[in-house]
Amino acid sequence: MPGFESFGEAERKEAQDVLDSGILMRYGFDAMRNGHYKAKSLEEELQSTLQVKHAQLVTNGTAAVSASLAIAGVGAGDEVIVPCFTFVASFEAIMMLGAIPVLVDIDDTLTLSPEAVKKAITPKTKAIMPVHMCGSMADLDALKEICDDNNLILAEDACQAVGGTYKGKYLGTYGDVGSLSFDFVKTITCGEGGAVLTNNPEFAKHADQFSDHGHDHIGNDRGAESHPVLGYNFRISELNAAVGLAQVRRLKDFIAVQKKNYTTLREALSEIEEVTFRTVPEGGEESYAFLNFFLPNLDTARKVIASFKEKGVDACFHYYDNNWHYVRKWEHLKDIKTLYPVSKEVKEGLSYLKHKTFDQSDHFIGRNISCLIKLSWTEAEVKERAKLMVQAIKESL
Ligand SMILES: Cc1ncc(COP(=O)(O)O)c(C=O)c1O
Repeated sequence: MPGFESFGEAERKEAQDVLDSGILMRYGFDAMRNGHYKAKSLEEELQSTLQVKHAQLVTNGTAAVSASLAIAGVGAGDEVIVPCFTFVASFEAIMMLGAIPVLVDIDDTLTLSPEAVKKAITPKTKAIMPVHMCGSMADLDALKEICDDNNLILAEDACQAVGGTYKGKYLGTYGDVGSLSFDFVKTITCGEGGAVLTNNPEFAKHADQFSDHGHDHIGNDRGAESHPVLGYNFRISELNAAVGLAQVRRLKDFIAVQKKNYTTLREALSEIEEVTFRTVPEGGEESYAFLNFFLPNLDTARKVIASFKEKGVDACFHYYDNNWHYVRKWEHLKDIKTLYPVSKEVKEGLSYLKHKTFDQSDHFIGRNISCLIKLSWTEAEVKERAKLMVQAIKESL
């Protein structure tokens, strides 16, 4: 997810506009900002690029996930069904609202298993949150049907998948709400930044207000604005937004390069009979941010990742042994190690984690390797990488 690889003239120009005026805040100071509204412009650009009615920029992807749930009315004591393979931010964002993350198994898409979701629904369930890990998606039609049948919110955590699509819709725009991250290692970056996406006009208004202390943004006197709801400060700065504005205009080019590099690596690995690839649901197209493949068993996956390291094949991850992305290593969540007291509902709601096992997910994550796709590789470098990867896998089988 290499936005960081491509910081150039366009990003410098947009950031310089902001430095020239000195107006680092997105709201107000109209007379002093030389007509530059970088956050507003980036929101408009996201709306037209991703074909969504409302994009609300916020400080980061974690805030975007929280805000996306809050604007849809998810809060204290509500259960949100989420995959056990995700980045910790997904459950942090749920817990920030006093809600309870209900972790369930993934399937061979490496995202939420609709079957596991069905089994996890209780009277307290308020939302289902697929996480489109490593550039590809869950079976969104199946999840939408479950949501419709049970009157639940479909909230997509698309933080790792900007540019991917499902049945012609950009990831993050299919559900009731979606969230994106523009942190430093995402496909496009603001340095730090995130966005809430929605086509629902009521949620859009909530997003605008919630991310800025509840301001209604009516009129041009900030101090005189009303506060119809309580909110927070999740505002992005103009400097961050300026960088993102240059990056989003390059999104389609970035995706095309990712696709080319991904395809070269995939074709090389396809020649090994024992290697299989994650399932992409019918009608889906990955963002090609990662190439994900399965090996026959955990032991082989561990050997392959060690061999990649030895051969200098960088940026490949075996999430089974990683502290941040898989439930196996989330002791701080299982033991509810907060710095502050949490509610009785959250404590009771998380108690299932003490005994729940995730055998189906272990089966997939244990055998999976995820390789980041970079933009900056030359053709020769991708070919050399493919050769080394094939060698490492064959030697480990
Ligand atoms: C799936 C997922 N959700 C949320 C986030 C949070 O994004 P941010 O780092 O911008 O807070 C990340 C970041 O890596 C992520 O991978």
